[in-house]
Amino acid sequence: MSWYALRVSLIAALGGFLFGFETAVISGAEKTIQQLWSLSSGWQGFTVASSLIGTVIGSLITGAPAQKLGRKKVLGIIAILYLLSAIGCALTSVWLLFVTFRFIGGLAVGASSVVGPMYISEVAPAHMRGRLAGSFQLNIVFGIFIAYLTNFLFLGTGEDSWRWMLGIMVVPAALFAFLLRSIPESPRWLVLNNRDEEAKRIFEKTGDLDALQNIREEHLLAAGGIREKLFNGKYNKPIFFAVLLAMFNQLAGINAILYYAPRIFEMAGFGQEQAFLQPVYIGAANLLFTLLAMTMIDRFGRKKLLIIGSFGMILFLGLTANAFSGDISGNSNVLIYLIGFIAFFAFSQGAVIWVFISEIFPNSVRSQGGSLGSFTHWIMAAIISWTFPVIVEGSEKGGYYSFLFYTVMMFLHLIFVWKFLPETKGKSLEEIQKELGIK
Ligand code: GLC
Repeated sequence: MSWYALRVSLIAALGGFLFGFETAVISGAEKTIQQLWSLSSGWQGFTVASSLIGTVIGSLITGAPAQKLGRKKVLGIIAILYLLSAIGCALTSVWLLFVTFRFIGGLAVGASSVVGPMYISEVAPAHMRGRLAGSFQLNIVFGIFIAYLTNFLFLGTGEDSWRWMLGIMVVPAALFAFLLRSIPESPRWLVLNNRDEEAKRIFEKTGDLDALQNIREEHLLAAGGIREKLFNGKYNKPIFFAVLLAMFNQLAGINAILYYAPRIFEMAGFGQEQAFLQPVYIGAANLLFTLLAMTMIDRFGRKKLLIIGSFGMILFLGLTANAFSGDISGNSNVLIYLIGFIAFFAFSQGAVIWVFISEIFPNSVRSQGGSLGSFTHWIMAAIISWTFPVIVEGSEKGGYYSFLFYTVMMFLHLIFVWKFLPETKGKSLEEIQKELGIK
């Protein structure tokens, strides 16, 4: 156990905390904002989605600077974007500026989802990598939980409550910016840039003494040199796995549920305060089961978690679909079903996605590969969270169709994982490459 690796990973993972907070916080503020600027439902959807547009672009454009400037510098830029977004959203009274600051927050979220896990998997020794990279997800769900909690707590503070909900993010953003100063640059990035001596000192601190040798071997094997193009045919396998895993992550419907949790509970007949309280339980279950997964991910492996999770998600999504097929109002079972779903999602897909995407690509193309995986995830997140309210409001059976669709998708996910996905636990990043047949 390397405490040093743990400490620097946890600091980088704060980018995940902000990712989670920024994603969930809007669920508490969206209705007031709609009234404040008298937004039609179309513009309302756009206002909520402006951050998602940011995430798509953020994940897409981060690979290059992460490769050029280094992971640490990009993390610093991300911290500043989070700060800007929190301050801007809380203070502005101009709708256009509000949307712009949400967009900036989204850029930071998208970029975090690429660089955070990448940085962590590059400093982590193999035997701890699942848990450390998993701490990024733990931070995401902690951020979601805190956002739901602070939304609930600020609910009764008057007409400016939404400003407090969004503005409180200044605190973790400032902490992130401050703590980042104490972490080193990613040692694997240093090696890519021929700074082996500096890298060696970091690997000594993380207790990963074979790392340098492994990386050198990988580089000798990498005929295309250390700065390759991702789409040169050689990396089709990891591309296939990363893209499919990211797609299935969102096809579970997770973010539709997270973004619209209070609305779903209002549909099920809960009063406003209750509708704000139930998401706190959802957030707590998410947190608890992510923690549980963290204790198992390096022992049981990624695949087992995903398979167990698929069964549970199929069951609870199916039950939710079934509840929506009848009269949903007054059906408090929905809370139990959604908590069941979140528990299994957190234990499997949630815990695995960012770990897996960050470990499946070789050093030379990791930033591009991570970027592609995150981009796929955010595009799908945008599609799912745009279509959900439209389908639910558009047809009486909309809720039923949506949840049935997610159920079927999780069935396909199960088959994909079972039949195709390689296991990556306990292997060094370089060994994974050998196993995938990448030379
Ligand atoms: C995973 C998903 C993300 C979701 C979160 C919820 O990180 O990738 O989209 O918001 O889990 O816990």
